[in-house]
Amino acid sequence: MKLWGGRFSGQTDSFANFFQSSIMFDQRLFKHDISGSLAHAKMLGKQGIISSADAHLITQGLTGILAELEAGSLKIDLSFEDIHSFVEAELVKRIGEAGKRLHTGRSRNDQVALDMRMYVKEETKALKKQLLLLLETLSETAKLHLKTVMPGFTHLQKAQPITLAHHLMAYFQMFKRDYERLCDLILRTDEMPLGAGALAGTSYPLDRDLVKDLLGFKELTKNSLDSVSDRDFCMEFVFSLSLIMTHLSRFCEEIIIWATDSFGFIEISDAYSTGSSIMPQKKNPDIAELIRGKTGRVYGNLISLLTVMKALPLAYNKDMQEDKEAVFDAADTVKACLFAFTGMIENITFNKEKMSESAGGGYTDATDAADYLVKKGVPFREAHEMTGKLVSYAVGKNKRLGELTLNEFKDITPVFDEDIFTALMVENLINSRSLPGGPGEKAVLNAINDGILFIRKNQADE
Ligand code: ARG
Repeated sequence: MKLWGGRFSGQTDSFANFFQSSIMFDQRLFKHDISGSLAHAKMLGKQGIISSADAHLITQGLTGILAELEAGSLKIDLSFEDIHSFVEAELVKRIGEAGKRLHTGRSRNDQVALDMRMYVKEETKALKKQLLLLLETLSETAKLHLKTVMPGFTHLQKAQPITLAHHLMAYFQMFKRDYERLCDLILRTDEMPLGAGALAGTSYPLDRDLVKDLLGFKELTKNSLDSVSDRDFCMEFVFSLSLIMTHLSRFCEEIIIWATDSFGFIEISDAYSTGSSIMPQKKNPDIAELIRGKTGRVYGNLISLLTVMKALPLAYNKDMQEDKEAVFDAADTVKACLFAFTGMIENITFNKEKMSESAGGGYTDATDAADYLVKKGVPFREAHEMTGKLVSYAVGKNKRLGELTLNEFKDITPVFDEDIFTALMVENLINSRSLPGGPGEKAVLNAINDGILFIRKNQADE
C-alpha cells in the first residue's frame, strides 16, 4: 500500500519503486516512529481534532504493533516504501477507519525529522555511556602507571621522558572533550519538529508543547521550513563521531607501533590479536588496525552528509533520505569501535622494563641538562649550545649523558657539578616537571583525580 496513490492513475515502475524506497534501512526507526505517533495521536484526541475513542483505538493499535515488533512476532513487510507507511498500514489493518485518522496534521517530512532526532538523541546517550567507560579504563590504567617511565616523542623521535600515566591521560583529555561535544550536540538536537507538516505548518489546532513534553524534548523547533529541511544535527553528530574516531585511530596507531618487535613496549592479549595463516610466529594487532581503518568509513559518512545537503533548496527534498545510512553506519561503527577498543586497552600488558630502558636512550635528557645549566645562571641559548656539544661528544663515545664522568662534563663547561648526575636521573627529570598539566607524578595524579571526579559527576547525571 502507498500513502499517496490518489493522484496517480499509472503504476510506479517496479524498479523505480524499489529505488526510492527506504524501508530496507529506516525499518530500524520503528520504535521512534511509533512513539512519535503515539504522542501525536494522544494530542489529536486531547485537542478534539479526532475523537477520544479514535485516539484510544490508535493508541491500543500502535502499542500492540510496537510490542509485536519488539518481540519479533510481527515482521516488517519490506514491500512498503518506508517504515512510516508500514506502521500506518498495519494500524489500519488492525483498527480500520480510526487508523486512517492518525496522519491528520502531520507529514512524513516532519515525522521523519522527528524520528531522526529521537534516534540521534538515543544513540548519543549510548555513546556517552561508552565514552565514560573508556575514560574510566584510561584513568584506572594511568593510576597503575604513575611511575612507568617511557619516552615521549615528537616526529616519532624520542624527545623527553614522560610516564605512561601521562601519555594515557593525554587521551583521557581527548575523549573527555569528545564526551562534552556529545553533551553539547544534544542541546541542539533536542527540538521537537512535529507541527511543521510538509513544510508550512498546519491549520489544525495542534498542541505542539504537549507532544514535545510527551516525547521528552526540551524545545520546539522554531520554523516549519527549517524543521523539515535541516539535518545539521545529523552532521554535527557524525562530525563528533569522526573526532572520536580520530582519537581512537591515533591511539591505535601507537598501539600498533608499540606492539612491534622493535618497540616491544606492549603485548596485546591473545583475546585481541590474530595470527597469520602462513607465518606461525605472527601475532597481529588486527583490532587496532581495523579501528584505524574504520575511521575512514566514518569520515566518509560525514562527507556524504555534507555533500548531500550542500545544495538543497528549502524545504524537504528526497535527497535527504540519504541521511539515514550515513548516520546509522557512523553510530554502529563508533559504538563497535569503542567497545572493542576499551576491551583491548584493558587487556594490554605493558613492558615496563622495555619502556624505561627506551626512555633513557636517545639523549632524551638533553633538554634537562641544558635547563640544569640555566638554573646555574647560564643563558638558555648558550646552555643549549653547550649541551649540543655535550651530546655530540657522548654520541662519539657511545655513552649516555649519565654515563659520562664529571671531568668530561666539566670539559664542556665547569658549571657542571656533581649534582648533574642526580639531575639526570630519569625519575628526577620527570618529577621536576610537576607544573599543572606536566608529567610529574603529582601533576598526573591531580589530573587523574580531576578525571575521576568528572566521570563520577557525569555517571550521576546519566
Ligand atoms: N523516507 C523519507 C525520508 O527518509 C521519508 C520522508 C518522505 N517524504 C516525502 N515527501 N517523500 O526522507
